[in-house]
Amino acid sequence: MILDKFKEQFAQTVAAAFCGAYPDIAKATGDHGPFSASDVLKGIEKPKDPKMGSIAFPIFKYLSVLKSKPDVVTRTVAEAANKALGANGSRPALTLTSASGYINASIDPLAVSQRTLTEVLTQKNHFADSSIGEGKINLVEYSSPNIAKTFGVGHLRTTIIGNSLRRIYKKLGYQVIGINYPGDWGTQFGKMIVAFRKWGSEETFKNKAVFNLIDLYVKFHAEAEKDESLNEEARVAFKQLEDGDPEVTALWERMKEVSFEEWDRVYAILGVEFDLMYGESFLNDKMEAVIERLTRVGLTSISRGALIVDLKDPQLPPALLKRQDGATLYITRDLAGLIYRWEKYRFHESLYVVGVSQSDHFKQALKVIAMLEEAENLPASERMTGKVKHVDFGWVKFGEKTMSTRQGNIIFLEDVLNQAIELARTKIREKNPDLKQFDEVSRMIGVGAVIFSQLSVRRQKDVNFDWDEVLSFEGETGPYLQYTHARLCSLERVYGKPITADVDFELLDREEERIVIESLAEFGDVILDAARNYDPWYISTYLLRLSSAFNKFYQRKDASGRIDKIISDNADLSAARMALVQSVRIVINEGLHLLGLRAPDEM
Ligand code: ARG
Repeated sequence: MILDKFKEQFAQTVAAAFCGAYPDIAKATGDHGPFSASDVLKGIEKPKDPKMGSIAFPIFKYLSVLKSKPDVVTRTVAEAANKALGANGSRPALTLTSASGYINASIDPLAVSQRTLTEVLTQKNHFADSSIGEGKINLVEYSSPNIAKTFGVGHLRTTIIGNSLRRIYKKLGYQVIGINYPGDWGTQFGKMIVAFRKWGSEETFKNKAVFNLIDLYVKFHAEAEKDESLNEEARVAFKQLEDGDPEVTALWERMKEVSFEEWDRVYAILGVEFDLMYGESFLNDKMEAVIERLTRVGLTSISRGALIVDLKDPQLPPALLKRQDGATLYITRDLAGLIYRWEKYRFHESLYVVGVSQSDHFKQALKVIAMLEEAENLPASERMTGKVKHVDFGWVKFGEKTMSTRQGNIIFLEDVLNQAIELARTKIREKNPDLKQFDEVSRMIGVGAVIFSQLSVRRQKDVNFDWDEVLSFEGETGPYLQYTHARLCSLERVYGKPITADVDFELLDREEERIVIESLAEFGDVILDAARNYDPWYISTYLLRLSSAFNKFYQRKDASGRIDKIISDNADLSAARMALVQSVRIVINEGLHLLGLRAPDEM
């Protein structure tokens, strides 16, 4: 986005230079000549060879109206533009050259430093904010755990990716609705109810109730293996729930309540937020309308007593809307939910951050919607097809040795987080026993380590979770970034003077500094990449790149082999370097925030 400003300057200068150099053509083809500043802007490319600078503008498209040899035109325009850029006597930010049909420009590194650092230091955490999302609504659904089942690591990744996407879209100016859609409906609740009647008691709802409920559920399955009639009982119980039986409903409400209690604890530890929460049951009274709509256009049919939509796709099984006994399904509720969200929000995009294991489910649901919109012949503006996206992600794998599992192979997220915090405490105690906010910082680091572990690989790849790696203060980890941030803060404390952008940028003239500054200038584009690819990974790798560039600058040695100190007797040099230090600190802080991590000032 920093580059964008230079591109704009380039476009304006080139358009003006052309009109000046070829007034006759300009007149004959309209006020701006054959190309206006906005045309030039659109035509800008990235030069194939970096030696050609940062901007390339091909003019072939305009040959028919130019009435002159392309090379003559590019040379004439480049020369005129350079003259205009240097007219006020100051050092121009852009230098234009011409080469076989292209006008190229390189940007003066000094101009890049000046613009980048001034923007960061004045805009602070609003640096790289954008307005591309203005007036648009983006929905992001994430987390969505299931009632009476505990929050496992499977739900960790969706929670963390979704929370980060919510922050990223906000930064880009979208109105974002982060949605939590818990699984609170389905035939399994019939089983839960029967299990509670048989083996539960008031005790079940005391002391980590969710775990007691899971035990009941497991017991139900074991017993149903031996006694088939339990399943029939469960079916009846679910029917009672569907019919609104007060006693059964009250029991179900209590199960919901204790589940929410557990999740809220986990969300609080993670620092995760939502704007809207409704469970599957919220859609119960909205399914019939969807089924009617599908039936009206002839998309439903009966197959072996069940109501289905044939998706006319050899890759996809039919979508099952109602079972033979009339029970609706997970997909029936999702269809109602898709329509509910579209009607309520008319979103720009609606994302479902859900594991790859559900990709067929989402393909089916989106195919049903596409078929419906087609059959109803809706105008393009009334269709959500193309705006809804299943943002899938790979599995989380744990090394065998490390996890405490209470039962089976379920790993409890709260345990993972507490274990991470405990490990962080041990590490920090070793490194910095006198740390003032020891507890608070340990939490930031432990939780940050877990969060970062989920975002430091591309979304669609599996994550291998290894405690030693995740909590390492070196290498590609959250704690490493948090540590870099704390170190930058400590430099500012040592410096102790106000830091401003009113410095001599020419003093930041070495290779190490140039790389750090270029990296800072990239931040806005990196955020856009993350948004376009629905993947915070772009930001996590960027922060690692930026930190490593900064650490090279920080550890640079001078000619005599001594560390070239950032703060020295040379006041101007120190001020310029500290402007860079603070800029890096601001961007790392904001980057970590976008990922969902907190950045300690000291650790
Ligand atoms: N509750 C589901 C699960 O834990 C995830 C829900 C995903 N979202 C949706 N709209 N289907 O597997």
